[in-house]
Amino acid sequence: MTDSKTPAPGPVLGIESSCDETGVAVYEPGRGLLAHALYSQIALHAEYGGVVPELASRDHVRKLLPLLRQTLADAELKVSDLAAVAYTAGPGLIGALLVGASVARSLAWALEVPAIAIHHMEGHLLAPLLEEPAPGTEPLAPPFVALLVSGGHSMLVAVDKIGSYAILGDTLDDAAGEAFDKTAKLMGLPYPGGPALARIAETGNPKAFRFSRPMTDRPGLDFSFSGLKTQVLLAWRDSDHAESTKANIARGFEEAIVETLAIKCRRALARTGYKRLVVSGGVGANKRLRAQLAAAGQQEGFQTYFPRLAFCTDNGAMIALAGSIRLAAGQTTGPEIRVLPRWDLQSLAGLETGDSGLGRAVPA
Ligand code: KG4
Ligand code: ZN
Repeated sequence: MTDSKTPAPGPVLGIESSCDETGVAVYEPGRGLLAHALYSQIALHAEYGGVVPELASRDHVRKLLPLLRQTLADAELKVSDLAAVAYTAGPGLIGALLVGASVARSLAWALEVPAIAIHHMEGHLLAPLLEEPAPGTEPLAPPFVALLVSGGHSMLVAVDKIGSYAILGDTLDDAAGEAFDKTAKLMGLPYPGGPALARIAETGNPKAFRFSRPMTDRPGLDFSFSGLKTQVLLAWRDSDHAESTKANIARGFEEAIVETLAIKCRRALARTGYKRLVVSGGVGANKRLRAQLAAAGQQEGFQTYFPRLAFCTDNGAMIALAGSIRLAAGQTTGPEIRVLPRWDLQSLAGLETGDSGLGRAVPA
């Protein structure tokens, strides 16, 4: 989906609309993130217990232009200041993707600037570059391993250079976020289940329920979480349904997922020999997962990189950032409005130089 043009440096607008968040942001190499705005459709979908695709598309239509105006105003920019417009072209819900892609492509055409189609998971993968490195930590640079855990994906990715991604492990059934959401739902927790389940797990006893750590007893880096969900279903069905039991089951489930992910991360680092681990995607906002991996990194000598909580879940900042990197590499997208609801991360074009072209990132 790319062709090569000479990039013009300057602020890049990023638009995210792949699922139930409308995100808009502006990122400029050398200056960092200038502004970002997000509208979450959680309340709209809550009564259905999950995302209703057609409602999602319509809400993106309602919210995208107001958010765009707000973001430009916050960045103190005019629309004519934009050097390029990046947008999530996939994977995701086709109608929702088309809203962002149509607005982005039309705006780029009107402004006569490049448009850049971004893979949603590349956005998640690069999101830690929006942060200043922690004191005493080297800035994030390839090679590294990325654990991408969201509502739709659970992947371990080897990143030799930016843009060049090899999937080391994937889920065979439910994604980690999906497992959180479905498990939460069966215990009557509100949508979206991940954060709700993590919240009640805080008060749970980690020793009350022990669920299995799926696929850790054999070699390999793939995941499978649907059996874990069934174990919780049986435990919940046979329980007294007390709030304290619910919290204990939630804690046992969270421990199982976190430990499983941590075991596979260690294996991926051992297999590649890399010393850096990126954790991103909605489940990357899970505090226990972050704490466990950060502690493992300190003990075992690898460095961990997380986006701030708000940039773990879907957002426009990661798309503006990925757009800036692709623009600096001269990779822009043709005039067609095309989205890819299914899109293999490994099919992306790598950056020839390995240079992100970002300069110093200054978080907003
Ligand atoms: O990346 P994201 O916003 O959207 C997708 O691309 O899927 O991820 C959303 C997923 C949901 O499944 C949500 O329940 C999960 O991330 N999630 C969490 C937490 N916050 C969000 N799961 C566990 N713990 C959390 N704190
Ligand atoms: Zn996502």
